Amino acid sequence: MSSHALHLLRTTFGDPANSGNAMSLQEAQELLNSWVKNERLKLHMQQVAHLMKAWARERLGLSEEEQHRWYLAGLLHDADWDQWPEQHCRRIIEELEARRQDPAIIQAIASHGPAYFGVEPRSAMDKMLYAFDELSGFTHAYSLMRPEGYSGMEVKGVKKRLKDKTFAAQVSREDIADASQRAAIPLEELIQFVITHQADTV
Ligand SMILES: [Fe+2]
Ligand SMILES: [Fe+2]
Repeated sequence: MSSHALHLLRTTFGDPANSGNAMSLQEAQELLNSWVKNERLKLHMQQVAHLMKAWARERLGLSEEEQHRWYLAGLLHDADWDQWPEQHCRRIIEELEARRQDPAIIQAIASHGPAYFGVEPRSAMDKMLYAFDELSGFTHAYSLMRPEGYSGMEVKGVKKRLKDKTFAAQVSREDIADASQRAAIPLEELIQFVITHQADTV
């Protein structure tokens, strides 16, 4: 969710001295539970987290520690949306800086909506968070309107809905196309990855 145009007005996040620091899964879940009451939003963040970790593991072969950082970026990227939508995503960035988290995680969160926050996705983590964010929510909305949910879902079905501007109209098709281009991954490949992995999260 990134429909509020809050430019962050800076381009570096976190302290390089904190590289490698990542809160435990328990601490992240406690933060999420205290900040986010909206269950749908929580599911969205869990789904994006799951996709991020799966990509880090399967496609990039990253270490467990790195996979965990990718997971945290996904899990916390919209953590401030529920209570402070007008401050999204400045509030969560400041919280993670105060908790001395790895700058890579904070940078990824800061760049998940370049058109809104004014921060360019640079690293692979940044680009994949941007790429999965809207597509994850969109694919989930599609699953909810299918009687069989994710079962038997095909890439072409998702693409057909993307062309239908009345379906999930709040989801920016421009952001989805832009994110796929920046990640240099064909949209079809991203959609297939989301379908395959998101089916495990419901
Ligand atoms: Fe967002
Ligand atoms: Fe999001």
